[in-house]
Amino acid sequence: MTDQQTPASATNSAWGGRFSEAVDAFVARFTASVNFDQRLYRQDIRGSLAHAAMLAEVGVLSRDECEQISAGLRAIEAQIAAGDFEWSETLEDVHMNIEARLTDAIGAVGKKLHTGRSRNDQVATDIRLWLRDEIDQISALITLLQAGIIKLAESQAETIMPGFTHLQTAQPVTFGHHLLAWNEMLQRDHGRLIDCRQRLNQSPLGAAALAGTTYPIDRHATAAALGFERPTENSLDSVSDRDFAIEFCAFASILLTHMSRMSEELILWASAQFQFIDLPDRFCTGSSIMPQKKNPDVPELVRGKAGRVNGHLISLLTLMKSQPLAYNKDNQEDKEPLFDAVDTVRDCLRAFADMVPNIQPRSAEMYEAARRGFSTATDLADYLVRRGLAFRDSHEVVGRAVAFGVEQQRDLSEFTLAELQQFSDAIEQDVFEVLTLEGSVAARDHIGGTAPNQVRAAAGRALAALDGRG
Ligand code: ARG
Repeated sequence: MTDQQTPASATNSAWGGRFSEAVDAFVARFTASVNFDQRLYRQDIRGSLAHAAMLAEVGVLSRDECEQISAGLRAIEAQIAAGDFEWSETLEDVHMNIEARLTDAIGAVGKKLHTGRSRNDQVATDIRLWLRDEIDQISALITLLQAGIIKLAESQAETIMPGFTHLQTAQPVTFGHHLLAWNEMLQRDHGRLIDCRQRLNQSPLGAAALAGTTYPIDRHATAAALGFERPTENSLDSVSDRDFAIEFCAFASILLTHMSRMSEELILWASAQFQFIDLPDRFCTGSSIMPQKKNPDVPELVRGKAGRVNGHLISLLTLMKSQPLAYNKDNQEDKEPLFDAVDTVRDCLRAFADMVPNIQPRSAEMYEAARRGFSTATDLADYLVRRGLAFRDSHEVVGRAVAFGVEQQRDLSEFTLAELQQFSDAIEQDVFEVLTLEGSVAARDHIGGTAPNQVRAAAGRALAALDGRG
């Protein structure tokens, strides 16, 4: 059959000339990507519009041809958006589906669109455009979550809780300080995301199959039209590079690692054993058998999603490992892990941005917990150092006092002065100021410390850093 008799979308005629038999039906299905890469249709059309306009500019297409192609592409975009587009597996991928439909719609001129390009540079361009858009949305979600965390931290600058090492009571900290630690993790994650965006923002369009093209194309023009900073430098690298997908997944893995840590703490804090917070009901579920249950499903699921995103990172690293230059069909496998990583990150951030700022702290319970576990023992040791003892000696003295407290089931602050003086005669009445939780946190009064005024100042700086974001 000639092209005149068969609509382009009915068979895959993109390479028919070289072949003497049709692709096996199973192979067609096995090699097709349209079921998942149709997600790139907007970017694919955007790239094609820029390519066609450039071809007209340099005289490869006439103005009229360019206009027909552009109008046809816009009509297809509208059809797809309206759900009126029938995707065909025979046409393998989003690129050939759209191109074939274009030729069906506008006739032979549609076949000129693919002049001076290849699906290899086309797909590389599409994914970069797509990921760039997604990154901008994810960036905004991280900022939203950070703003919520920082504001909550500011309001909890005086709330005292136990700080932990080894999940054992260590020293009192303020809840606001703990929350600002989360913010620091997210601040670095955001930086990694922006780094990734910056590196990906170059246009591979024009690299064609692998070596460039013989047409007098203007890669700077297409790069600018698509909002890229510049064209990529090397055509072989352009069509084979998937670093940006790996970098995104690396960012996503670290972000989800952080979110899994926050989740773990939320889950612990919401338990009957800790009772540090209440989670809003709308983020929890009940049990069909145990009427008392309020399960922290959302943080648990976020914790679990970290595993899935780590898997995508490993998939992409393994996909690219040992691939010879330039494009290989293996690369088609980049999309599903990347798409799912993006979706997972977006959903987790969305849940967190709504949930975390709305957790209800139970300050009385936190305070009570900080009073248990001898959290001011270090403060007593530091007090004795100020009284002239060497730190190792004061550590020993306080260790004996704590052992006594454990035996008596009383906190250091509940001892009488005479009792304390049994352990060291350097102890005087003013010791009780350092043994209070308030005194303990207020004393850590330097940048990065847990003192309430430091927490407020840190929250102010953190909010100002968000304002600087584009
Ligand atoms: N569907 C392909 C992909 O996602 C598009 C590029 C195909 N190029 C090729 N020469 N077969 O990677």
